Amino acid sequence: MSTARVKSRTKHNVPSEAEPIRVVVTGAAGQIAYSLLYSIAKGDVFGKDQPIILVLLDIPPMLPVLDGVVMELQDCALPLLREVIPTDKVEVGFKDLDAAILVGSMPRKEGMERKDLLKANVAIFKAQGAALDKYAKKTVKVLVVGNPANTNCLIASKSAPSIPKENFSCLTRLDHNRASSQVAIRCGVPADNVKNVIIWGNHSSTQYPDVHHAKVTVQGSEVAAYDAVKDDAWLKGEFISTVQLRGAAVIKARKLSSAMSAAKAICDHMRDIWFGTKEGEFISMGVYAGGNSYGIPEDLIYSFPIQLKNKGWKVVDGLPINDFSRAKMEATAAELVDERDTAMAFLSQ
Ligand SMILES: NC(=O)c1ccc[n+]([C@@H]2O[C@H](COP(=O)([O-])OP(=O)(O)OC[C@H]3O[C@@H](n4cnc5c(N)ncnc54)[C@H](O)[C@@H]3O)[C@@H](O)[C@H]2O)c1
Repeated sequence: MSTARVKSRTKHNVPSEAEPIRVVVTGAAGQIAYSLLYSIAKGDVFGKDQPIILVLLDIPPMLPVLDGVVMELQDCALPLLREVIPTDKVEVGFKDLDAAILVGSMPRKEGMERKDLLKANVAIFKAQGAALDKYAKKTVKVLVVGNPANTNCLIASKSAPSIPKENFSCLTRLDHNRASSQVAIRCGVPADNVKNVIIWGNHSSTQYPDVHHAKVTVQGSEVAAYDAVKDDAWLKGEFISTVQLRGAAVIKARKLSSAMSAAKAICDHMRDIWFGTKEGEFISMGVYAGGNSYGIPEDLIYSFPIQLKNKGWKVVDGLPINDFSRAKMEATAAELVDERDTAMAFLSQ
């Protein structure tokens, strides 16, 4: 028996294994979580040999629904899933966390003003940030999905001063995947033949999907997206508005917001944090803008082109930005500044 093999066994002669990691999903009784939990529990995100303790957090009226989700997860008989903990208490939900996926938020109700929605979400993400600060590991990776995702993420980070700002990110990977897929469909190639699209800014209709630096593999050769698509008017017009308004289009058609594709994007985002991005490729995620080289105001969570390695990220610097892109990057930044200022006024109340 080789030394490596001996080392990989415990004294009871059963294979040793990694310690389970602890992952919370909030809004765990909701529709995104219903698509997400199975993928996480079967190892698609944190690795096929990484045992998991899954914590499901929702509000008290949803506890009976959570019981059903727990039963279904048990009934999947997944070998990596060591424990499922349903709870409505942050002190239980956020204890010793390795990863936090914050999906639950206050949805916009009929007649609700944007300001009121922001106020309700500031209260939620202030409390959850403070609980992360108190109970989670300092290395916890926090992904905010609940809308308005960028500003909720900023509030959570500001409310968790003992956790590095770099550990917080928000989801714009769904927009990124939508943009890649639109280009792939247009070129008649598989989705993974398109790389390095960028979503700049807010996860809202002001976001800027940018393909100036994207590449498409067509018949074995990698070419610039503009050369592959060969339709500048489409790329500067309908493509952008299709991606910006895709969420609304899905709601109109399905009468429910994107859930399957949101769950897939959450998996992509977290897997890239855990295992890194491919050599020469970048993805989009909302991160703290401090120190960015694109002139974006610093105290924002803004979506940039990002490369990840060893669970850390860096903004891809030095991409040339033309006037068309610059105007759109500034417009989405202006919306985020406005959202932040409104949210900060509520935070200090
Ligand atoms: N960033 C993105 O790309 C993206 C994409 C799709 C959806 N979203 C957002 O994700 C959120 C969830 O979407 P969904 O379709 O799953 O909604 P949903 O209404 O089906 O589920 C939301 C769940 O969150 C729970 N919740 C509400 N407040 C909570 C709190 N304080 N703590 C814990 N749980 C709480 C609710 O009880 C509910 O079970 C929404 O805000 C939606 O707008 C973001």
